[in-house]
Amino acid sequence: MITNSTSDTSIADNSGLPLLFTPFSLKSVKAKNRIVVAPMCQYHSEDGGPTNWQMMHLGRLATGGAGIVFGEETAVERRGRKTYACAGIYKKEHASAYRHLTDFIRLQGAIPAIQLGHSGRKASCHTAVADWRPLRDDDAKDGMSPWQGLAPSAINQPPRRFLPKEMDHDDIRTVLNAFREATLRSVDAGYEIVEVHGAHGYLIHQFLSPVSNHRNDGYGGDIKGRMRFALEVAETVYDAWPKDKPIFYRISAVDGEGGKWGLEDSITLSRELKVRGMDLIDVSSGGIFGDTEMPPVPRVPGYQVAFAERIKHSADVLTIAVGGITEAEQAENILKEGKADLVALARELLWNADWPAHAADALGVKDPFEVLPEEYAHRLRQREAQKSMAINQGGKETKSAWNKLLDRTEL
Ligand SMILES: Cc1cc2nc3c(=O)[nH]c(=O)nc-3n(C[C@H](O)[C@H](O)[C@H](O)COP(=O)(O)O)c2cc1C
Repeated sequence: MITNSTSDTSIADNSGLPLLFTPFSLKSVKAKNRIVVAPMCQYHSEDGGPTNWQMMHLGRLATGGAGIVFGEETAVERRGRKTYACAGIYKKEHASAYRHLTDFIRLQGAIPAIQLGHSGRKASCHTAVADWRPLRDDDAKDGMSPWQGLAPSAINQPPRRFLPKEMDHDDIRTVLNAFREATLRSVDAGYEIVEVHGAHGYLIHQFLSPVSNHRNDGYGGDIKGRMRFALEVAETVYDAWPKDKPIFYRISAVDGEGGKWGLEDSITLSRELKVRGMDLIDVSSGGIFGDTEMPPVPRVPGYQVAFAERIKHSADVLTIAVGGITEAEQAENILKEGKADLVALARELLWNADWPAHAADALGVKDPFEVLPEEYAHRLRQREAQKSMAINQGGKETKSAWNKLLDRTEL
């Protein structure tokens, strides 16, 4: 077992702060709080590299006060993107391009984190706003020729222009090497946490689920065979990543509706990932569909928290809870009740990028502005002071003076 004695992930609170705002230390990385910006694909990249959009998007999330800021799923190979606009880190030049983002995120007091992935058979489509419609031959006129994806088995699901190539052992070695190179570039780019994307029906998950993996070599068959590729990716990333920095691994705790990969499988996988030096399991779900009795995960508030809790306790690993977390109290209770070690938000942060500051306020943190950049915090503190002065001291006089000036009776 690989362990690291410098980590302090304990959630014991000795500062009087809500748990959500206690620091999270793992290896040499110390996040100022336990709020994570979940990875969110943006479809604004150019040949994989980030554009001004990512600087704006991650910039506003970093200034919003989260402790850890994940960039979107970033492909380890050009053909491992879903779309022509997906992020990638498959060229040398990408490292310096992402460095602009990581420097800025760090300047805001947040930890820059990258999610590495490979789309596998889900490659070659349009972006999310076009519902990932498959690319067709006539998209070539817009410079978007369809390409062939990779998969453990040649099953055209979701339907694409080309049947995915069933990976032979050379293909597997090539992709593992791409994970290795991408991990090394992520170090050069200044990331402090790397996460492997093993969820949502992408390549790693395709190997895990019996729905998508019909192989009869050492990478298929029983759970041991189906886990082999996922574990080899873990070992590859572990070897290439600095030993004093954390590695997270995102999994789908269960397949999507009709799937076959279940929670007990995820517990087995999480134990194996831990043995291979993965520091934390980021617990999501879905992405592979089939025709079994497996129900869909109902999209209720906190819809994946119970999975994070089970995996945390049964596999004895750190976990992130994500999915339908929108309220400060809800996030705080997940930590208080020991269900996860970190909470991640995605869509709520698109609605309110400053959610961490609002959550600090809602949970009674003495100076909720502290998580914001000082330029904002300073002015907001002043406004608070003015507000309380107006209310507590000169309230009536100030109000009536203004009413007089405006010739109104109400202000
Ligand atoms: C715009 C958007 C893009 C996403 N892209 C990714 C991604 O790149 N990688 C990933 O693992 N999950 C991705 N997700 C899923 C989120 O990370 C998150 O798990 C999910 O949205 C549930 O959290 P929420 O209820 O707080 O939105 C994306 C979600 C959204 C809304």
